Amino acid sequence: MNAPFATAERIPATVPPELVCEADFDVLASQGDDPWRAVARLHEGPPVVWMTEANFGRPGWVLTRHDVINEAFIDYEHFSSERPGMVADMLGEPVRLNPIEIDPPRHHAYRKVLNPFFTPKAVKDFDDPVRQCCRELIAKFKDRGECEFVDEFAVPFPSYIFLDLMGMPRDRLDDFIGWQDDLMRASDPMDRVAAARSIYAYLKQHMLAQQENPTNDFLRGMVTAEIDGRPIDYYELMGMFYVLYVGGLDTVYSTLGWIMHHVATHPDLQARLRADSSLLPQAIEEFSRAFSVVVTHRQVAKNFVFHGVPMKKGDEVNMPIMLANRDPSVHENPHVVDIDRKPRHIAFGTGTHNCLGLHLAKREMRIVLEEFLSTFADIRVKPGETPRYHTGRTFGFEYLPLVLG
Ligand code: HEM
Repeated sequence: MNAPFATAERIPATVPPELVCEADFDVLASQGDDPWRAVARLHEGPPVVWMTEANFGRPGWVLTRHDVINEAFIDYEHFSSERPGMVADMLGEPVRLNPIEIDPPRHHAYRKVLNPFFTPKAVKDFDDPVRQCCRELIAKFKDRGECEFVDEFAVPFPSYIFLDLMGMPRDRLDDFIGWQDDLMRASDPMDRVAAARSIYAYLKQHMLAQQENPTNDFLRGMVTAEIDGRPIDYYELMGMFYVLYVGGLDTVYSTLGWIMHHVATHPDLQARLRADSSLLPQAIEEFSRAFSVVVTHRQVAKNFVFHGVPMKKGDEVNMPIMLANRDPSVHENPHVVDIDRKPRHIAFGTGTHNCLGLHLAKREMRIVLEEFLSTFADIRVKPGETPRYHTGRTFGFEYLPLVLG
């Protein structure tokens, strides 16, 4: 894609010429057959580069190493999350994704409302419904001995969990999945806008009903929340409902695809995990490191110099988390997936915006693996088929046909 930007915007005069990388991040990531190695070529250059097409054709900074990405996550005074709202723009209403698009100190008031429902202890209550959901989905293809993992499992699974978490009926599941797909991936921007609005309309009627009569403790906690001593307002609450939708679907679906692909192409590891399920938590940590699917971003809040690089207020800063988690100066042989590694990774972010749903996500992924490994004695990629993936703001499989012995 050619960026519709004038040269002055593509390469501002303030950017040191030696930091300019005339490339499209997405094209770079999709070269070859391994996106993680493809983007890791950026490790050969400086830790901060100005890429002419960093994000859907827009120019911006790209941080390429663990240390600088980690620092940007923590330094919210210079790297703001209050960037123009993708969803707000599409809806034409001030729905700021809450808390992900809000900087401290206001951010803390919202996290305080949500945190108690996402502690390791609190999310244990979800084990049974999560397992139940896995079993229901697996039952649909178990006897066939094969499945297309993306459409038949990875996409519907987190949607089911979201509907359960939010006390929503499952009768709109197909709509939800369609909206999710369009919101994240429709090539026509109008389809993305239409999906954002359909989601909004559905969340709105559910939210208003919950304000009248909350159906579970989590929903009661949100609709009756107080922010700085006053009741939470309409848009704050809608932002929370919306972020839970956006936060927990694409990330889980994408990570699950890479995990299942790895397991399906590594029979020895598969056998080891099947024989000893106590290894699953450490395997999930290593899979999360190696298959860190998120490219997040920030906006420079004020002019300043970052590691010798002059950054200007309003500049976009892209943080491909996979570059942090495959940084060879932090992880030895970063492209080797080794479940005995016990890595300290930042797949779920770090600092003030670290992932609200990380404990839930890890349990979900562990339960999915447990259920697949205990149900099927042999999981392989279907011979003769070529799995397909996409890169972008998240890296995820689009087509992953499996044979299930
Ligand atoms: C494998 C699955 C997941 C991955 C890899 C992931 C990754 C991330 C990352 C990297 C961030 C930080 C973004 C930033 O600072 O810009 C984040 C934040 C967030 N995630 Fe997740 N996430 C996952 C699952 C979930 C789930 C299941 C939920 C829903 C319950 C969720 C809800 C959120 C929310 C609400 C935030 C914003 C937190 C804040 O701003 O304080 N995530 N996630």
